[in-house]
Amino acid sequence: MSKATTTSAFYDAGPVRTPRVFSGIQPTGVLHIGSYVGALQQWVARQHEHENIFCVVDLHALTIPEVVDPRGLRAASRSVAALFFAAGIDPAANIVFVQSQVHEHAELAWILNCTTPLGWLQRMTQFKSKAAGLESVGTGLLDYPVLQAADILLYDTDLVPVGDDQRQHVELTRDIAIRFNNLFGDVFTLPRVVIPDLGARIMGLDEPTVKMSKSLAESRSGHAINLLDSEVTVRKTIMAAVTDSGREVRFEYASPGVLNLLTIYQVLTDLSKDEIEREFEGVGYGQLKKALVEVVLGTLSPIQERFRCYMSDLDELDAILARGAERARSIAAGTLHRVKGAVGID
Ligand code: AMP
Ligand code: TRP
Repeated sequence: MSKATTTSAFYDAGPVRTPRVFSGIQPTGVLHIGSYVGALQQWVARQHEHENIFCVVDLHALTIPEVVDPRGLRAASRSVAALFFAAGIDPAANIVFVQSQVHEHAELAWILNCTTPLGWLQRMTQFKSKAAGLESVGTGLLDYPVLQAADILLYDTDLVPVGDDQRQHVELTRDIAIRFNNLFGDVFTLPRVVIPDLGARIMGLDEPTVKMSKSLAESRSGHAINLLDSEVTVRKTIMAAVTDSGREVRFEYASPGVLNLLTIYQVLTDLSKDEIEREFEGVGYGQLKKALVEVVLGTLSPIQERFRCYMSDLDELDAILARGAERARSIAAGTLHRVKGAVGID
């Protein structure tokens, strides 16, 4: 029998349990439309089908100490959590918490470190690209995917909804779980990555051949649409987005810049490709951009309004996160106990 049906506390309720989802976002930089369509939007859309645990992964945000602002980190964690709720995550129906409030994450990461071959971590493309730009590479940057594996495995997670850039880390998590289970017995549930069909890799608006990223968003004003951008900034960024010298709006022949705009438009409107092509037949990229501005503003303005509302009562926000941490801890403690038993340190 698979672990998915044997290890969960929910097993007591019957042989089949609701699939459990775990995902996380780092409280670094500002969330942009890429993280929204790649991750947040799909969490919201399927929140009532699953049992969900969503985490603000502040321990992950410590991996590049040069960019950590100790005074800003707590505020950034609150603001990312508020954005989860503002985007539509229901605090009553889901567990939402800040990673550092549940010490089991760091503890399990250590145990998994001891069974994870170094070569697996050195192969990670995110590590290679992040390390390439640094003068001195911290151990945490290399070890980052082991902490991520601990996040996921602590909750007997079945599904991990993320953008395309995280696929490799979730596959590594499976490998880490399989290796641990082979060494110490059937302890971990094997998680599966869930990548959206559309919008899993939104590209930079100023450079559509690179992924839209928080770090580039901080240094280049036309790179990203941030979830908290003003109307003026959204308009300016989209109208200046790189396209090409053509004018026909067609998915099949689109250059990377035009395809990126079309993809964002499609994800946010839920229209089919045919409907979109018909809408922009014979009118050129200018019209597509103007329509995209309206659709993006229509998405962002209710999010921004709800965000301000959550941020206006920080005591209540902290209370929601404290309750989330408590619920998370009650699951995580059980798994860690099992793990400790398996390795002989309970
Ligand atoms: P991060 O903000 O880097 O912690 O990423 C949070 C989530 O958003 C992860 O699931 C990422 O895979 C996803 N994500 C980040 N950037 C993009 C992007 N440009 N396109 C689609 N998904 C993204
Ligand atoms: N590494 C992810 C990112 O940078 C964030 C993350 C940490 C995560 N732990 C996780 C995502 C567990 C999914 C599941 O986007």
